[in-house]
Amino acid sequence: MKRQLHLNLFISGKGHHEASWRHPDSSGLASTDIRYLQGLTQRAEQGLFDSIFLADQLAFQGGGAQIGLEPLTALAALAVSTKKIGLIATASTTYTEPFNLVRQFASLDHISKGRVGWNIVTSWSAPAAKNYGYETQISHTDRYAKADEFMEVAKCLWDSWSDDAIVDDKKSGKYIYRNRIRTIDHKGEHYSVEGPLNIPRGPQGWPVLVQAGSSDTGRQFASQYAEAVFTAHMQESTARAFYSDLKSLVKSRGRAQSHCLILPGLSPVIASTESEAKIYSEDLNGLADTNEGLARLSSRFGGTDFSHLPLDQPLRPEDFPDPATVESARSRTEVIVGVVRSEKPTMRQLLAKMSGARGHYVFAGTPEQVADLIEDWFLNGVADGINLMPPVLPKMLDVFIDEVVPLLQAKGIFRTSYEGDTLRQHYGLDRPNNVFG
Ligand SMILES: Cc1cc2nc3c(=O)[nH]c(=O)nc-3n(C[C@H](O)[C@H](O)[C@H](O)COP(=O)(O)O)c2cc1C
Repeated sequence: MKRQLHLNLFISGKGHHEASWRHPDSSGLASTDIRYLQGLTQRAEQGLFDSIFLADQLAFQGGGAQIGLEPLTALAALAVSTKKIGLIATASTTYTEPFNLVRQFASLDHISKGRVGWNIVTSWSAPAAKNYGYETQISHTDRYAKADEFMEVAKCLWDSWSDDAIVDDKKSGKYIYRNRIRTIDHKGEHYSVEGPLNIPRGPQGWPVLVQAGSSDTGRQFASQYAEAVFTAHMQESTARAFYSDLKSLVKSRGRAQSHCLILPGLSPVIASTESEAKIYSEDLNGLADTNEGLARLSSRFGGTDFSHLPLDQPLRPEDFPDPATVESARSRTEVIVGVVRSEKPTMRQLLAKMSGARGHYVFAGTPEQVADLIEDWFLNGVADGINLMPPVLPKMLDVFIDEVVPLLQAKGIFRTSYEGDTLRQHYGLDRPNNVFG
């Protein structure tokens, strides 16, 4: 089958620009109003997107309008108000038990009839630790070690029911074949789980496994488990290097490279002329709050205070902690320090760049320019798809669907109708065989 572009809509607040909620084009509905999420998801389904995605943090993050519903709860409501589009939720391996999460995802896969995906995160946000009984954050290394064991348990639990375990035969009085359901008897360093799960295997077997950590350890983890990867880059060069590195890691594990799809974030401001798009973008930046930007930057670096740095002098890499020592959002700090090294922005310029999409690629241009950029990334080793992060919602999603999607279809790289019914089918991924047969 011809390789096809994948489109995921990342829904966050009233849009990904940190000042989107102040813009006249952003929705008047609260971001906790389910009708807001339903409207966006149904719109993305009209645009034939593969999936929508909800992020999650396990601590109050301060100001801004990024506050939203707990993703697994929201996904259940979205599942019954849509038919085709995939639904991806973030859930943490650090602060939950495998049995809970595996059961919730199996339920969602049943509710959505096979359209669910799990964005596996280890939770970078330092304050989360204090909400779960820890004094300090678990280290980056330990979080990933725990995540490894979590995944081994999760896979066994999803497979603890054979696909044919349910008979439901009124005549014979047999509901299940008990011998097609097995314990998993896992005893490891972090988890002890007997199993089996208390819900049958979902239509997809397992949810689509998505991952969004890009540090060295994160890439190792992704190469082993991830079927789709979200990644943040502010420069095309680093996105390209990431793509080729992760694909070779996937190959070295004996996995098909096409079974680990890479979707970098893209936040486009789209208007009929380039200059209109630039003005729209500057207007948005003008609504952003410097103190909020500094607070966000600080949280990425695990709480480092940058407020003593002058706003209008070029920054130096030495102004930041070495990313290798950062225990929170390590790969994002690599992206930020990389930009400081190569572009030498002032703090004001860096915050303006970050306000667009928190360290993802921002772009302002015409529909043709956006479609050409996506095509170039897709054909030339940067992306298998795009994690679309509209700066203002719903406005920039509407413009993308009305004006960019038709151009991608005309280029022959994006579907003109859904061919499958499950998220695995949209992403061209196999249904995992049950290890118990
Ligand atoms: C598109 C995208 C979405 C993410 N969403 C979340 C999220 O919802 N919750 C979270 O804790 N981390 C999220 N992350 C962060 C990563 O999962 C990861 O924790 C972080 O990048 C630190 O790990 P790393 O150093 O291996 O990259 C996201 C990252 C990306 C690129």
